[in-house]
Amino acid sequence: MTTMESLIGLVNRIQRACTVLGDHGGAEGALPTLWEALPSVAVVGGQSSGKSSVLESIVGRDFLPRGSGIVTRRPLVLQLHKTEEGQPEYAEFLHLPKRKFTDFFVNLTLIDLPGLTKVAVEGQPDSIVQDIENMVRTYVEKPNSIILAISPANQDIATSDAIKLAREVDPTGERTFGVLTKLDLMDKGTNALDVLEGRSYKLQQPWVGIVNRSQADINKNVDMIVARRKEREYFANSPDYSHLASKMGSEYLAKLLSRHLESVIRARIPSISSLITKTIDELESEMDHLGRPIALDAGAQLYTILELCRAFDKIFKEHLEGGRPGGDR
Ligand code: GDP
Ligand code: MG
Ligand code: NA
Repeated sequence: MTTMESLIGLVNRIQRACTVLGDHGGAEGALPTLWEALPSVAVVGGQSSGKSSVLESIVGRDFLPRGSGIVTRRPLVLQLHKTEEGQPEYAEFLHLPKRKFTDFFVNLTLIDLPGLTKVAVEGQPDSIVQDIENMVRTYVEKPNSIILAISPANQDIATSDAIKLAREVDPTGERTFGVLTKLDLMDKGTNALDVLEGRSYKLQQPWVGIVNRSQADINKNVDMIVARRKEREYFANSPDYSHLASKMGSEYLAKLLSRHLESVIRARIPSISSLITKTIDELESEMDHLGRPIALDAGAQLYTILELCRAFDKIFKEHLEGGRPGGDR
């Protein structure tokens, strides 16, 4: 593993530990700040725009509640990681060449957010529309949040909830990835080139077009491997998009995200590192005072975070002493 990969892995593990600790209401001080300094990816978009499908597709595994009538009600924080030996942890991928696998198995913290809605449906309070938007906003307004703004290609991009929110919280578009789903469902004779080539709405990151599994595919249990092959074929054979084929699809999106995450972490190593030092100090004194009532789990989690922070600190310092701050590739 490269140093960068170890650091990304550690960042993810620290975030996971912070999340669990958050549930127990543990350390008050540096931890929330540390969490906010570490990048994570949040998926934003209207209901049924394809958010869960995109997340699964990036990861290459079915694991989310997904479908036309299915709604994600709470933010789901997903942690993905390789095993220590760098082997993929999911058996169904073992038949894939290793090289390919690491290309699109990303080491990221991903957050599946509830879909933005325009109207409350029967039985919901009128405040629901605003409540959901506010909740989603708390995730994406933080500068550490990398936004996957999901818009379906069969709706006018000018009405996209995802783009509307992304534009508010990230006006320069530096941390927003525009993702256009459902290209296969566009009216015959139309295409999405204006969006995909950045003429409709310009972002600093490239737009990526996606073809996820349809509801019929899901009903037929079309698996991820087949879905990805079909997606690749769709772009390769499309008269409209074949010239963009190498920059389209969920595998490419996963690659883009990994690269982006890496550069964000690289740029923030000095500030993350000093926060880590601060967190270690705070955690150490917290551990010293564990006489006060604290849930056992929370104590164990504090210890885990402390160990992870020490590991980060060590890797970073060794690397810095090697005279190559920031990476070895
Ligand atoms: P979410 O509510 O935003 O999480 O959306 P889901 O991922 O649950 O998808 C909603 C529905 O749209 C499901 O029936 C999916 O199969 C379907 N869907 C998502 N993306 C695509 C796509 O690119 N093409 C087609 N044909 N259907 C899609
Ligand atoms: Mg969903
Ligand atoms: Na859904």
